[in-house]
Amino acid sequence: MWGGRFAEGPSAIMREINASIPFDKALWREDIAGSRAHVAMLARQGIVSEADAAAIDKGLAQIAEEYEADGVAEDWDLEDIHMTVEARLTEIVGPVAGRLHTARSRNDQVATDFRMWVRSANRRAIAGIDAVLHALVARADEHADTIMPGFTHLQTAQPVTLGHHLLAYFEMLARDRSRFADALERMDECPLGSAALAGTGFDLDREMIAQALDFARPTCNSLDAVSDRDFALDYLMAASQCALHLSRLAEEFIIWASQPFGFVKLPDTLSTGSSIMPQKRNPDAAELVRGHAGRVIGCTTALMVTMKGLPLAYSKDMQDDKPPVFEAAGLMDLSLAAMAGMVADSGFDKARMRKAAEAGHATATDLADWLVRQADIPFREAHHITGAAVKLADEKGVALDGLAIEDLKAIDSRIDERVFDALSIDASVAARASYGGTAPERVREQVEDARKRLEKF
Ligand code: ARG
Repeated sequence: MWGGRFAEGPSAIMREINASIPFDKALWREDIAGSRAHVAMLARQGIVSEADAAAIDKGLAQIAEEYEADGVAEDWDLEDIHMTVEARLTEIVGPVAGRLHTARSRNDQVATDFRMWVRSANRRAIAGIDAVLHALVARADEHADTIMPGFTHLQTAQPVTLGHHLLAYFEMLARDRSRFADALERMDECPLGSAALAGTGFDLDREMIAQALDFARPTCNSLDAVSDRDFALDYLMAASQCALHLSRLAEEFIIWASQPFGFVKLPDTLSTGSSIMPQKRNPDAAELVRGHAGRVIGCTTALMVTMKGLPLAYSKDMQDDKPPVFEAAGLMDLSLAAMAGMVADSGFDKARMRKAAEAGHATATDLADWLVRQADIPFREAHHITGAAVKLADEKGVALDGLAIEDLKAIDSRIDERVFDALSIDASVAARASYGGTAPERVREQVEDARKRLEKF
């Protein structure tokens, strides 16, 4: 395909280091679609005859069927998917196949194929996120008033509702969704017709190809179009952020499913047993989601570092763009599906969560707030008084609302019986009714709002 100026063929090492067909065959659908759009445009512009274009199109359709069935033979000498398809086309339709590559280079071809592949990966990510978002809203609705301990530093802080906690992940993943959607919009330009780097002398209709391949418009600058891989990095960066969020959610499930916590029973379908310890139910799916996040972030780093020193236009380093994107996309598809199942099908132990919220003096802030409101004590002083109450409760081995009123009065005479209304965990969550707060009534509003947002997606 390029041997004209060479006296000798490539060495075995050259063949092996150069061949991308083992991985870029994943682009066969996009490559064939791109070629069909290109040849249709060449015919419309009178650059190839209608008859030749029809023969080429028919051959390409046959190759698609072959890929769909058993695939097409791989040959490292053919380097990549583009040459593999063209060589097979030559076998099928003869020398007329040579007209397909008129006014085209593999540089604009691969940029177009890969964009289309990344566009699909983006769309799959959005669909995957939507499944998790739906599951989060359904479970948040179900658990709008399920009380659990809220943590800071993984130390019991204040009681919260499980619905509120799940909706926190709704917010994170909704932002991730918008990052993928934003990336999709930005990559909605078709490079085909940029040729090797400088454009072409043939009278192409780039609008026509862009439309045929479902892009909003052609790219504006041919040098940029063949050199740009930031559409792939946009995907990877959105994926990294999303994987990071999924990893945090997975980590929570892992902690909650541990025996000392016992907040949740993970679905059988997403757990594994141990070959030696019969009692075990291991959260392997959640652990792998946590692990996969590391790999996705690694893929992003790999491509950024590949691109950072490249001058315009195409350099072969850019062939290394595909493996990290393919790997990350596979990991994202799996991680999103696993987390959707985990959120939808886990069994939450409301009694265990409630008990945990009652331990650890989670309502200490409520006592301090009560002193501020009912006794007009400055918050810093109220904090100090409450600290003394917590110390006494610890010494007596009781919860704050298990202290006798005499004990509390001995700490500060301004405390009276009404304080007990503020010390229960139910009162505590009900009181946190500020906009965005954990009170069940606010959570129900947030659920409604989340549902409306989902409808608009
Ligand atoms: N296999 C190549 C890639 O993935 C296709 C482009 C090759 N272009 C070239 N001028 N060698 O990047």
